[in-house]
Amino acid sequence: MSPATKRTVVITGGGTGIGAATAELFAEAGHDVTITGRREEVLAAAAKRLGVAHLAFDAADPAAVQAALDQLPTGIDVLVNNAGGNTDRRRPPVAAGDLAGLADGWRANFEANVLTTVLVTEALKPRLADGARIVTVGSVAAKQGSGSYGAAKAALEAWNVETARTLGVRGITANIVAPGVTLDTEFFAGTVSEEWVAGRVATAFNRRAGTPAEIAQAIFFLGRADAGHLTGQVIHVNGGVHTAR
Ligand SMILES: NC(=O)c1ccc[n+]([C@@H]2O[C@H](COP(=O)([O-])OP(=O)(O)OC[C@H]3O[C@@H](n4cnc5c(N)ncnc54)[C@H](OP(=O)(O)O)[C@@H]3O)[C@@H](O)[C@H]2O)c1
Repeated sequence: MSPATKRTVVITGGGTGIGAATAELFAEAGHDVTITGRREEVLAAAAKRLGVAHLAFDAADPAAVQAALDQLPTGIDVLVNNAGGNTDRRRPPVAAGDLAGLADGWRANFEANVLTTVLVTEALKPRLADGARIVTVGSVAAKQGSGSYGAAKAALEAWNVETARTLGVRGITANIVAPGVTLDTEFFAGTVSEEWVAGRVATAFNRRAGTPAEIAQAIFFLGRADAGHLTGQVIHVNGGVHTAR
């Protein structure tokens, strides 16, 4: 690939699931890819397998993001804000009336999904090349509702519009790819059965869950240099469940 077409790509949460599939696509296309996440060993293994660079830091921690800047690339062409997940799936259920527990749960999902995206984007803004692409991974939960997780992903949609509006003069686009149920990731952390998945995808027009590779294809398209007139949008990749009646 010529230096002119080679792009510098940063993918948060790139060690597993959708992020790793996205890193694979960009790496296969010959771009320079850096994946991030909190677990060094997971990242190192994925980076070795994919032939990409990696850097471990907590994207929800302002000091950690600041400290990571020294080792993150400059001249970034594509930023994929993929880190996140439904933190409720890794916490004990909150008892009715436990307002402190409820507040903790809402903060956790806000931090995992909104702060990770907002902090990394803000920190890297001065390093984004003119004409850069910002692609953020949202969720169909923003449309369908799913407690604090859906609310956090909905907050990202408002943030995305503001980001697209303010960076548009530099030719930078900002879009959200919103998956539905996507298997072969760590998202569900072993908390769902085959029956549950079947119920969730029953309203999909194709009656199936998505794959990380399918979500990655949408992210890859939005990251293209010639996708510059598509901005401020939410692209649903879920077999149509967001239209379910
Ligand atoms: N799978 C689905 O059904 C589905 C549906 C809709 C939307 N999504 C969204 O898709 C995105 C990717 O999730 P996935 O399904 O691929 O699940 P996943 O395998 O759990 O991937 C999430 C990645 O984000 C990283 N991460 C989480 N919190 C982080 C933090 N504070 N700082 C840095 N990295 C962090 C995780 O690594 P560490 O734990 O090592 O940090 C992990 O690699 C998420 O935003 C999720 O909300 C998934």
